Amino acid sequence: MIVSNRLPLNIVKRGGKLSFQSSVGGLVTGLGPVHRQKKGLWVGWPGVTLDKFKEEEKEEIYEKLASRNLSPVFLSEEDIESYYHGFCNETIWPLFHYFPEFTVYDKNYWESYVRVNKAFCDVVVEVAEAEDTIWVHDYHLMLLPKLIRKKMPDATIGFFHHIPFPAYEIFHLLPWRKEIVEGLLGADLVGFHTYDYVRYFLGSVRRILGYDHTLGEITLDKRLVRADTFPMGIDYERFAQVERDPKVQKEIETIRKRMGERKIILSIDRLDYTKGIPQRLEAFDTFLTNYPEFRQKVTLVMVAVPSRTEIESYVLLKSQVDELIGRINGTHGIIGWVPVWYLYRSIPFHTLVSLYRIADVALVTPLRDGMNLISKEFIATKTDGKGVLILSEMAGAAKELVEAFIVNPNNKEEIAEALKEALRMPEVEQIRRNRILQRRLQRYDVEKWVEEFIKELENIKDDQKEFKVKILSNNMQKKLIDDYLKSNKRLILLDYDGTLISFAPRPEEARPDNELLEILRALTQESKNEAIIISGRQRETLDLWFSSLNLGLIAEHGVWIKEKRSKWGIIRPVGNDWKGEIRPFLELYADKTPGSFIEEKEYSLVWHYRNADPELSARNLVELKDSLLHVAANFNLNVLEGSKVIEIKNAGIDKGLASSHWLSKGDWDFIMAIGDDWTDEDTFAALPETAYTIKVGLGRSRARFNLYSTGEVRSLLRELVRK
Ligand code: UDP
Ligand code: G6P
Repeated sequence: MIVSNRLPLNIVKRGGKLSFQSSVGGLVTGLGPVHRQKKGLWVGWPGVTLDKFKEEEKEEIYEKLASRNLSPVFLSEEDIESYYHGFCNETIWPLFHYFPEFTVYDKNYWESYVRVNKAFCDVVVEVAEAEDTIWVHDYHLMLLPKLIRKKMPDATIGFFHHIPFPAYEIFHLLPWRKEIVEGLLGADLVGFHTYDYVRYFLGSVRRILGYDHTLGEITLDKRLVRADTFPMGIDYERFAQVERDPKVQKEIETIRKRMGERKIILSIDRLDYTKGIPQRLEAFDTFLTNYPEFRQKVTLVMVAVPSRTEIESYVLLKSQVDELIGRINGTHGIIGWVPVWYLYRSIPFHTLVSLYRIADVALVTPLRDGMNLISKEFIATKTDGKGVLILSEMAGAAKELVEAFIVNPNNKEEIAEALKEALRMPEVEQIRRNRILQRRLQRYDVEKWVEEFIKELENIKDDQKEFKVKILSNNMQKKLIDDYLKSNKRLILLDYDGTLISFAPRPEEARPDNELLEILRALTQESKNEAIIISGRQRETLDLWFSSLNLGLIAEHGVWIKEKRSKWGIIRPVGNDWKGEIRPFLELYADKTPGSFIEEKEYSLVWHYRNADPELSARNLVELKDSLLHVAANFNLNVLEGSKVIEIKNAGIDKGLASSHWLSKGDWDFIMAIGDDWTDEDTFAALPETAYTIKVGLGRSRARFNLYSTGEVRSLLRELVRK
């Protein structure tokens, strides 16, 4: 099921008769053929309110749409104003395209956005079958994945973002940024055109919600979500075949007759300020001024498709473009030659492709564009290989179409020069470049794009299932308790931070609360139990917090061991002479990362960055690890990554060694270990396969089971001591 703001068809009423008109824009042209082929349902707005139609007309509308597998969501006049024109096109569109000066922050717009997203959700939930894959599209519906997830927790939901996702610097200007990222994370897979957009999205998730990611995989409290790159392709064959279409051939002849032998530079976009149309006209002006030899030899055909005409910035743009074209034609034109041919209208497909076919150069210079399909369509129609594409580096397509002339859309001189070069480019060179571009576009067409997205959506669903299977189910929990009750000699190894207690901003603030102390007391009072806190903390801290309890203690990840009612001892002697070498590295990064700090333990050094800027610390962490690589090896040290900490300690001593030590001390008939981070993996690995090893959180682990949170760990322990 496709869900997007706009359906591929708009309803229009002409002379009292209902008819359908194709929608314009990259989303619809891209997904249209896919929908026609796959026959799924498409939910969206047909471009009108229902108020203006008579009852029988309404019925006709529903019927006609249903026969084309389209399911409408009607918007009220007010929603069109405050949701569509308002939040979508005066808030998100300008902001996400880096036009903060056009961005309106209005609470009413936001409320309307929430309301309409809910209305879409109602329709989706009503028409969706349980096994449907629901694919939500674009910036109008960023809250929808979460809304659907709430009503259909197991649904397969994909989201594709067709416009740029901005850097955090821009995104955080939005007062509702948190709700937006939360909304998107309701999906299982969030797709973007380029890796930069993915990176910016993941950065915002990290900064706003605190979730880290591994290679684009975000582990939420109870679910996995993936973000990845899927550059949208076109229906390649549809464009490649046009040369055989007689209607197109006739149209080309007509255009050629009118143009004479002049070379044609083509410009086509929706009339939108993101497309850089005034800048393009200025560059054309510069071209005619700097290279007068091209006067009368070229014509710029400019098609501007009317779009969002009720928004002020679009109205202003229209007069700016009209005026500029007037000025250029007035300045450079002579009788018999009009430098810019201007069409302000939407054009039928055969005219569009005729223009692509006949153009010598396509000038595509948006200031910012999620992808830009015009550039791809132009290349696809050039079956003879002749023609040159000049493309803005700010379009997502520039990441793929690297053989084009890539220009900066704000640099008039550069564009003027590119035009000169393009018009003079030898045919063999044009063909060489276009063949490479065509091969790429043919291979990665729109069908492939859909296939790749859906395949990855299915993969992530499989991964989620794998995690679900590992979650300690009620039945498994019963078995664990049964085994516990049947046993006589039990070894229970419990990590502390992130396992028994949630992380605190500073380590000293995570002292055990009364509830936890009660649970631990009950656990240790049972004579069959040997309960051990196995922690990275220093022995002083463990003594301070737990000396009143009859617990075994392991400090500094296994360096120190304290059995019940005895003194601290060391498993194996370790050295400390490396600290002086390593400390300056950590100090450097602590200085470079405000909010982070160093903790010195007896046998290790730790860099804590929980309170630092997440993006900066993630970056500095990579650098730090890199610079530690050689020194750590020289001193035979281990560099351990925990939750928002990195710890450097002697190699060969870890929680696994300490666990083995305890393991060998008795003939245990029940073994359980619970931990949350990488240091606990050594514990899990050291224990026999039959042990109940439990990882807190959803990350990948050697443990046999997962629990979601410290709260669940406590309930499990409470269950054990209650029996
Ligand atoms: N297009 C259209 N009608 C026209 C001119 C263009 O439907 O009169 C189509 C064109 O074929 C292309 C899309 O509009 O597929 C524009 O997509 P693009 O990604 O370039 O920009 P967007 O409009 O989505 O920002
Ligand atoms: C861009 C957006 C689409 C939108 C299209 C036309 O391509 O990504 O979601 O449909 O512009 O804009 P409109 O406001 O007319 O739907």
